Amino acid sequence: MKIGKLSLRNNVLLAPMAGITDLVFRLLVREFGCALGFTEMISANGLVRGTEKSYRYLETTPNDKPLGVQIFGSDPDVLSEAARIVTDRGADLVDINMGCPVKKVLKTGAGGALMKEPAKVAVILQRLREATPLPLTVKIRSGWNHDEISALNIARIAQDCGVDAVILHPRTVNQGFGGRADWSLIASVKKCLNISVVGSGDIRSPEDARRMLDETGCDGVMVGRGVLGNPWIIKNIVYYLKGKNVLLPPTLREREGIIKQHLNMSVDFLGAGVGVRNFRKHMSWYTKGLKGGSRFREMVGKADEKESVLDAVHRYFQSINEK
Ligand SMILES: Cc1cc2nc3c(=O)[nH]c(=O)nc-3n(C[C@H](O)[C@H](O)[C@H](O)COP(=O)(O)O)c2cc1C
Repeated sequence: MKIGKLSLRNNVLLAPMAGITDLVFRLLVREFGCALGFTEMISANGLVRGTEKSYRYLETTPNDKPLGVQIFGSDPDVLSEAARIVTDRGADLVDINMGCPVKKVLKTGAGGALMKEPAKVAVILQRLREATPLPLTVKIRSGWNHDEISALNIARIAQDCGVDAVILHPRTVNQGFGGRADWSLIASVKKCLNISVVGSGDIRSPEDARRMLDETGCDGVMVGRGVLGNPWIIKNIVYYLKGKNVLLPPTLREREGIIKQHLNMSVDFLGAGVGVRNFRKHMSWYTKGLKGGSRFREMVGKADEKESVLDAVHRYFQSINEK
């Protein structure tokens, strides 16, 4: 799959997720073969003002490639300056967020609020197109609400402005993450564009990925919540799309190995305290549904030394392996 001049190794992409898709998580998921990783949404204002937190999201390494950097904002000047900044700082692709449903973001006219502002979108995208030579994508929703479905209009505007791909999460902004994603809208958008279209929403298995590609004709699939505690899904999807059988779920030993690797990476990159604290949510996802998982999580949730967490993980997996 190609996005502008960027050739991807396959068409399985990791979705941007705030608080989750940091450098550590991206590096881990890349080991399972995802073709493109994204930062979480980064405030264009924050970048232009030089806010340390915003720059931290840009942290990357040579094996964190290709990297899509997602920015959000509503002011064309600020957004284009931010695009220049991320272009100079190692992005391989710039994406603009037009789907975030969080009130704090909507209030500023950014994220999903842009789905109501086609004229403003055109100005923003023209300016962004001039600001960066990198592949440029937009990540959009269906529209503001069910009475205002604007995805087709916004997608056409994006293509006219020289955007290289449209990523569509077909829920309305009002819908948040509730209900089901309306994949038929991905098909409609694909039908009326010449540029690549990537579908996002409700892919939880290799079969889902195949079905989205078949039903909508989209060029690539983006996986978000399905990866949480389950990075293996990426490898399984890539295999399945090549016509191979679905791989088996990971063995307990493999799961234990990835948990330990992920925790070690987290501490290496973020330091002892933050590395362990930041890992707790992943631990919950990795052990969800496992025998005695909730008791284990309760116990391990109190530990803040890496060594004691590793030890507890080892003992827990030994105990369930023996049963
Ligand atoms: C915790 C969380 C954070 C997210 N953060 C972002 C974000 O920063 N930028 C963005 O464009 N989408 C964000 N999304 C939306 C996802 O990228 C994706 O479009 C959506 O979750 C639907 O796909 P899924 O069903 O595979 O999760 C987020 C979703 C979740 C669950």
